[in-house]
Amino acid sequence: MKHLIDIKSLDKSEIAQIVSLARTFKLKKRQPSVGGSTACLMFFENSTRTKISFDLAAQKLGMNVIHFDGGTSSLSKGETLKDTLENLAAIGVDNLIVRTTEDDFIQRCMSEIKVPLSYVNAGSGTTAHPTQALLDFLTMLEKLATVKGKKICIVGDIAHSRVARSNIELLTRYQANVHVVAPEYFMPEDKRDDVTYHTNLADGIKDASVVMALRIQKERFDNLEGYDINDYIRHYRLHSKLIAEYCQYALIMHPGPVNRDVEITSELLDSKKGQTILEQAQNGTYVRMAVLEMLNAKGAN
Ligand code: CP
Repeated sequence: MKHLIDIKSLDKSEIAQIVSLARTFKLKKRQPSVGGSTACLMFFENSTRTKISFDLAAQKLGMNVIHFDGGTSSLSKGETLKDTLENLAAIGVDNLIVRTTEDDFIQRCMSEIKVPLSYVNAGSGTTAHPTQALLDFLTMLEKLATVKGKKICIVGDIAHSRVARSNIELLTRYQANVHVVAPEYFMPEDKRDDVTYHTNLADGIKDASVVMALRIQKERFDNLEGYDINDYIRHYRLHSKLIAEYCQYALIMHPGPVNRDVEITSELLDSKKGQTILEQAQNGTYVRMAVLEMLNAKGAN
């Protein structure tokens, strides 16, 4: 594996290897072997979980970690992205871990700028967040053993969600029974034949093994026709009574950050069922260790 761009670019053996390596790191059964490599975190959008867990993952592997800050970098003095990336590679950066609002930032860099950098997508616009889907997959496997045939329901702002797209790509590949619930204003334009779409929350979550709520991505839309936060809360917010009635055994998941009492009530979030969300965050470190280990293993590049 040379880059991690999106789920589509991974084959099943690479996904299996990431999950397996993450598990061995979690069980402390493996010593890292990529110490000395250098990761540069280039985040043009805010982040807590992804940025900190990539940083920690790299440190646990014995890698050097550099934080690139666009605002204080020489990009703000007129340097081109091409020159910046060439200089980062010359200085000794091996992995560029990138979060952008732009959907195809990494693809554009790869086609236009020839540098010996290994790119990792840490969230790109509305299109892809591969390590989030991989850590969600690991969390589901830990709890359910398999996703094959399981009803997995993703609820919320699907239209603007890179997490939904990466999860749908991965879960359908493993024959999960993927359902989506959203009001019309959050329905995606890129609907798929292998996913079932609902506007009614109870229909979507009924008998689900997993219910994954998503944050409303307010920063990605203006004046969205029909959008009304109070309407959303009334019809789509998850709460304990609803879960008990329609899918009492379901795992409750959320990629974070959660907007409390919008996507999920505080009482559900703070209950035992809400704990899975923190387990997702914990698994993020191990999945990111696995990805960095594979990218930097001798012979990978
Ligand atoms: N899930 C996720 O990407 O969270 P952050 O934006 O905090 O990294």
